[in-house]
Amino acid sequence: MTPSATSFPQEISITRPDDWHLHLRDGAALASVLPHTAAQFARAIVMPNLKPPVTTTEQAGAYRQRILAALPAGMRFEPLMTLYLTNNTPPDEIRRAKDSGFIHAVKLYPAGATTNSDAGVTDLRLCYKTLEVMQEVGLPFLVHGEVTDPEIDLFDREAVFIERVLQPLRKDMPELKVVFEHITTSEAAAYVTQASGPIAATITAHHLLYNRNEIFKGGIRPHYYCLPVLKRESHRLALVQAATSGNPRFFLGTDSAPHAKGVKENACGCAGCYTALHAMELYTQAFDQAGALDKLEAFASFNGPAFYNLPRNTGRISLKREDWTLPAELPFVDSSIVPLNGGETIHWKMLAE
Ligand code: NCD
Ligand code: ZN
Repeated sequence: MTPSATSFPQEISITRPDDWHLHLRDGAALASVLPHTAAQFARAIVMPNLKPPVTTTEQAGAYRQRILAALPAGMRFEPLMTLYLTNNTPPDEIRRAKDSGFIHAVKLYPAGATTNSDAGVTDLRLCYKTLEVMQEVGLPFLVHGEVTDPEIDLFDREAVFIERVLQPLRKDMPELKVVFEHITTSEAAAYVTQASGPIAATITAHHLLYNRNEIFKGGIRPHYYCLPVLKRESHRLALVQAATSGNPRFFLGTDSAPHAKGVKENACGCAGCYTALHAMELYTQAFDQAGALDKLEAFASFNGPAFYNLPRNTGRISLKREDWTLPAELPFVDSSIVPLNGGETIHWKMLAE
């Protein structure tokens, strides 16, 4: 798009968006973070990597009730639940999940790939009977797309996952609906653009805004460390291109992943960036920088529901071009969270409804 006066609006209004990849945690942590997401999004796909993981329909139903109970009075929000796939998830569990009406996807964590993934899958071939039922009933498979082979360079794990895991899987299950979660590389963006069959990808705000230099600017900055890790600038540019292309296969997923300050600022710090407070501001900033504000609504509010066969939201949100300072820390259980960009200036602000 060529810049013109209309490319620089002071205010935008879009259909209320959804977050297609979110970590809400549980208990007091859930209560601390849920209002941030509910203020920005109508619905969210809720990740199942609790301790222990959410592996059954019954557990997902109970978790859903805890989320609804933690929602402050007067706020509206619909949690879209997921199951955590293990080597032993029985095919019948998929039928129960589909019949529940509240489970919308099943998540693949390759064992050891990320936070709370120890119970994850060691070899997808062990899950084929279960995946066949997902294919049959149309339950999407959300993949954390990184191989865990220690021989593979950390920065190459997503690209190698495409060759070693994703392509063989999709050849065997061509009708399985797959979401390549939080993509970080030009290889993933190209694969999702070109592949045939039902595939989509979520993209986080931080992978649209930052490259890996951000982690090391002036010293090690743990609040920019997440998995899959930020990549070099050429990859960020490919992600921006994909997100702003208008291709319906790409949609919003924050991967907001709260961890207490002390476990991030640590000799072995946890992976995860917290963006739930200001996600739409960050996405708007990324699309604005790319001169593509007109593409934001489809990415944030239309493409996700279309892939998941859900209706679009009916409400709207507005954002204003305005500089404001993000809080440096937010209350979190008995400590605090440092949000991404904590204490920094943000250039868009969501308006109260
Ligand atoms: C997530 C978490 O903390 O649960 N962390 C992250 O860096 N994204 C797990 C995940 O989605 O990989
Ligand atoms: Zn995640």
